[in-house]
Amino acid sequence: MKKIRVMSVFGTRPEAIKMAPLVKELAAHPQMESLCCLTGQHREMLDSVMEIFQLKGDYDLNIMEKQQTLTKITTKTILGMDSVIEEAKPDLILVHGDTSTTFAGALSAFYHQVPIGHVEAGLRTGDKYSPYPEEMNRVLVSDMADLHFSPTKANAENLRREDVKGQIFITGNTAIDAMKTTIRDDFVFSTQCLNELDFQSKRVIVVTCHRRENYGQPMVNIMHAIAELVESHPDVEVVYPVHLSPAVRECVFGILGNVDRVHLIDPVNVEEMHNLMARCYMVMTDSGGLQEEAPALGKPVLVMRRETERPEAIAAGTAKLVGVEQAEIVRLAGELLDSEAAYAKMAKAVNPYGDGNACGRIVEAIAWHFGLTDHRPADFQV
Ligand code: UD1
Ligand code: UDP
Repeated sequence: MKKIRVMSVFGTRPEAIKMAPLVKELAAHPQMESLCCLTGQHREMLDSVMEIFQLKGDYDLNIMEKQQTLTKITTKTILGMDSVIEEAKPDLILVHGDTSTTFAGALSAFYHQVPIGHVEAGLRTGDKYSPYPEEMNRVLVSDMADLHFSPTKANAENLRREDVKGQIFITGNTAIDAMKTTIRDDFVFSTQCLNELDFQSKRVIVVTCHRRENYGQPMVNIMHAIAELVESHPDVEVVYPVHLSPAVRECVFGILGNVDRVHLIDPVNVEEMHNLMARCYMVMTDSGGLQEEAPALGKPVLVMRRETERPEAIAAGTAKLVGVEQAEIVRLAGELLDSEAAYAKMAKAVNPYGDGNACGRIVEAIAWHFGLTDHRPADFQV
């Protein structure tokens, strides 16, 4: 019997982390064949994920350039995917989230009239320029997709409100599936600086920041806020794995390069990152993925953005939107450092984003769509 060929297209670090468990689940299904097409929008940061999860791309467009533009990422992906789709002849193409790889991957699938499954569908802020370009990428992909895999009920409601075509499934976020395999109590860091940190007597804050809409003054404000917090709290150590984007590195190293107790390190692999978060005091970030992972670990997250498409953790009380102004970031982070009660209120493990079984539901939904089973998966419920 002919297997259903499912080709997953991804290219950045977060897409790879969240697609890795799904690629494995697809490969384990007896009536499916799983293929990976990497765009290579990220290089080192993508390769690191592939290595940890022991995955190999069947195709690699290798598109990354230093300081690449949105136009370059999009056009190189579309051009590269033409021949890949013609050769691989997939029955379904999966894209993830809201990057330029996601948008261009879906558009290529549409040009070849291949059905599209969108993993992490339905997240919205309602502001087309924030996050930029992610909000528009995911809106456009929703219009093209046939199967929408929404992490949460609210995400699915966004899609229903927009009257998107196709089937909507509430699956939970595959990020939580990925964490099942990475976190271990006896984990030993291979990054020297992390092994030397004293997580008992020091309070370790994990920081990341990379979003395009934060380039310029917002990022400058954020870096000054971090410096101020460390200077006013002698028991705080900041660990900041700095994204490889030159625009980000220039700003971060320029301001925090010589600040005591701020450890600027290269991006760490996903196992190191998850285990670092599991041991830290709190997280300060503009990342999407960290907003999902930290609550599951019971770590407060301060979201250094003006908005978020992930309101669930805020509603659950473990995340707070702190904006991009120095004084407000310092005030709200200071509260968590200075008040035990404020900290205890936020430091509780909740799982609004998933139960670790999202990939199983997605594969079941695909099987149902192709008539391999008459069982439609039950929705993920918090
Ligand atoms: C991209 C996504 C963003 C996602 C983020 C995750 C778009 C437009 N943006 O943003 O949604 O949140 O990934 O990290 O799709 N670089 C390297 N090596 C790497 C990765 C990046 O050198 O492994 C450098 C390159 O100079 C590259 C630059 O970083 O040009 C920016 O990468 P890019 O993918 O364009 O933007 P991100 O900010 O990573
Ligand atoms: N991450 C990682 N190493 C790092 C920083 C982040 O493995 O040095 C992981 C993090 O745990 C999460 C994902 O990368 O799973 C988030 O990626 P990023 O913040 O780059 O993108 P976003 O989620 O904002 O799109």
